[in-house]
Amino acid sequence: MKTYLVTGAAGFIGANFVKYLLSKYDDIRIVVLDALTYAGNLGTLASDIDQERCIFVKGDICNRTLTDVLFTEHRFDYVVNFAAESHVDRSIENPQLFLQTNVLGTQNLLDTARRAWVTGRDEQGYPTWLKGVRFHQVSTDEVYGSLGATGYFTEQTPLCPHSPYSASKASADLIVMAYRDTYHMPVSITRCSNNYGPYHFPEKLIPLIIKNILEGKTLPVYGDGSNVRDWLYVTDHCKAIDLVVRHGRDGEIYNVGGHNERTNLQIVRLTIQTVRRLMEAHSEYRKVLRHKEYHQDGLLNLDWLNDSLITFVKDRLGHDQRYAIDPSKITNELGWTPETSFDNGIVRTVEWYLTHQSWVDEVTSGDYQHYYERMYADR
Ligand code: NAD
Ligand code: TYD
Repeated sequence: MKTYLVTGAAGFIGANFVKYLLSKYDDIRIVVLDALTYAGNLGTLASDIDQERCIFVKGDICNRTLTDVLFTEHRFDYVVNFAAESHVDRSIENPQLFLQTNVLGTQNLLDTARRAWVTGRDEQGYPTWLKGVRFHQVSTDEVYGSLGATGYFTEQTPLCPHSPYSASKASADLIVMAYRDTYHMPVSITRCSNNYGPYHFPEKLIPLIIKNILEGKTLPVYGDGSNVRDWLYVTDHCKAIDLVVRHGRDGEIYNVGGHNERTNLQIVRLTIQTVRRLMEAHSEYRKVLRHKEYHQDGLLNLDWLNDSLITFVKDRLGHDQRYAIDPSKITNELGWTPETSFDNGIVRTVEWYLTHQSWVDEVTSGDYQHYYERMYADR
């Protein structure tokens, strides 16, 4: 029986990870710790929390008293730290919150784990650790900065973050590695490319585009749309984390990505085509269209659903041009390869959003409208 502390699992990737673990293993217990910020939604985990295999604690990863109590109570084998402020545009608005959660929160978790997991000292004075424990940090390819037209990020690529978000994630990685070097703490890090899939908060590109199509809004593409991201279906990321937590080498970093580079313009066009194709094939999907033209013009007319919805808007400050991951290390060492092709993944994702509009309504019922107006008003 392994006991996990999974932080930030009311958010996009963490929730998918918890669902993946619960479907794969019978003999586990999971404690989810999440502050339920605007990006966290307890409803996402409603069917998973059963008080036996999976329990939920609302709280901040920076709260030392709380994390100490949780470690004493649950004797975790693994910590998997997803909790973070995760949106680059928000980090440009308010960098301090990113340092607070992403850096100081990670350091608090490391230190709590250290207090709980150290068993003594070796002859050189290094701490000795409980057998089989592991602190896993979920990081991002954005810590490497931006690529030109060619080349890939490897684990040896120097850290060169540009946004407050990526700088905070790089700082968190450095403090994790400092605990490895200074205390010989059993840690691992994964650095993954852009994820997409169910439960993605609609401030990020793909779910935002789907939401705007359904509301009859224009589709904002930053700059000229030539920026490249390397997209990976979220479950493939979850599988990679599970492999690294259980079988990765102590102290190692693993890049995770599926060689699936697309420009933002390609992504937006493909999303438009996918929504349209699905609506043409399934009339029930058209019922979630919310704008007036749809109701006036009748059910069958989808002529408006084309690339003319795209508007090029003011570019993001310091916008990284290209990310692309070389995943050979995790493939060669742990046998990880992505299982979901982009063609299947995008259809699955769009279909999920068309059939889970109540989830979208729930997560966007708070401050989302103000955020959208603020962020896109002067673009
Ligand atoms: P998300 O924004 O959807 O979810 C973050 C979760 O963390 C939310 O549930 C939020 O409530 C919680 N949280 C925020 N601050 C907290 C705090 N102080 N204490 C406890 N919980 C807190 O993010 P995501 O897209 O699921 O990303 C998860 C992790 O994966 C992040 O660390 C991110 O840097 C990393 N990552 C994301 C991507 C991506 O494409 N989304 C790619 C690579 C790595
Ligand atoms: P995003 O989903 O915010 O992820 P990240 O910034 O972590 O890569 O953005 C993905 C890409 O899409 C990024 O290059 C910025 C761009 N983008 C737009 O063009 N328009 C939008 O409305 C958003 C949210 C992002």
